[in-house]
Amino acid sequence: MNDKSFTLGVLTSGGDAPGMNACIRAVVRTGIANNCRVIGVSNGFDGLINGEFRDLGPRDVGGILQRGGTILQTRRSDLFREARGQREAIRRMNEAGMDGLVVIGGDGSLNGAFALHNQGIKVIGVPGSIDNDIWGTNISIGVDTAMNTIMEAVDKLRDTASSHGRAFLIETMGRGSGYLAAMAGIVCGAEIILIPEVQITVEEVADAIEDAYKRGKTHAIIINAEGSGHKTAELAQALDDMDVGFKTRVTILGHIQRGGSPTAYDRLLASQMGVKAVEGLLAGTSGMMTGLKGRGVDYVALEEVLSHKRTVNLDYYNMARTLAR
Ligand code: F6P
Repeated sequence: MNDKSFTLGVLTSGGDAPGMNACIRAVVRTGIANNCRVIGVSNGFDGLINGEFRDLGPRDVGGILQRGGTILQTRRSDLFREARGQREAIRRMNEAGMDGLVVIGGDGSLNGAFALHNQGIKVIGVPGSIDNDIWGTNISIGVDTAMNTIMEAVDKLRDTASSHGRAFLIETMGRGSGYLAAMAGIVCGAEIILIPEVQITVEEVADAIEDAYKRGKTHAIIINAEGSGHKTAELAQALDDMDVGFKTRVTILGHIQRGGSPTAYDRLLASQMGVKAVEGLLAGTSGMMTGLKGRGVDYVALEEVLSHKRTVNLDYYNMARTLAR
């Protein structure tokens, strides 16, 4: 028997992001503080379809604030993209008496949240993705930690690059967004950055590196966003073939960028957004995402979020180029 006033579900979906656990904790504890029953859904939308539910109390989310990953596990669900997957999930939610759901994840996950909202389920999305490609929020959960991970890695690579007089070509994640690469370009002092939003040729990269060599630099850092259109290994080979002064080495940062303990900023953002999501559901709000605007977290319609693409601010890209002199 459930004597609680509201039954709340929470799931994480898509690529994990540091801070998701802090958000789950905030959802659970805000829910409990408001006399809700809170159900944790394992394995994202797949878990919703399969009824992988467990009750979560305040002690179940103890000691997770500082942990990367997600205690609820996450999946990229193909079945949920189909109407029959969504129908099954709604049936499971009704069976469990779920009155509302918090979906923590990236673009694809927010699409799933919107699909449920359009079928009468109360849903609030929380942006969690290292890519920072989600419209309607200045920043998503996980971005700051990923940035710091990239910065630490590039700082280390610069030590060895400088000792050997080499160029390092470093590939960052971000899917179709150049945000991580552009920001890394500023905070790590890259000579040149390749991002999907700005097309540059191999010759332009070679010129920039050769120029840096001639100006007396002891090393060169090149950041290549995975979605830039340039294959990292091929670009490195081309630079060596063109003899730009420095020999090139490659590091692909990969999934290291998704792991690790969330920074203070991500813990704070995730906590604020988790609280706001529950408050919204309890107030009868649905079809919204929590977004950081100005100094606070507010709601933004999922319809608006999903009909726009957040692209990198090119002022940052240009700033990085100026500062590379
Ligand atoms: O969306 C987050 C992200 O890490 C992207 O930057 C990357 O392209 C993708 O996920 C990798 O996905 P997977 O972990 O499924 O290989």
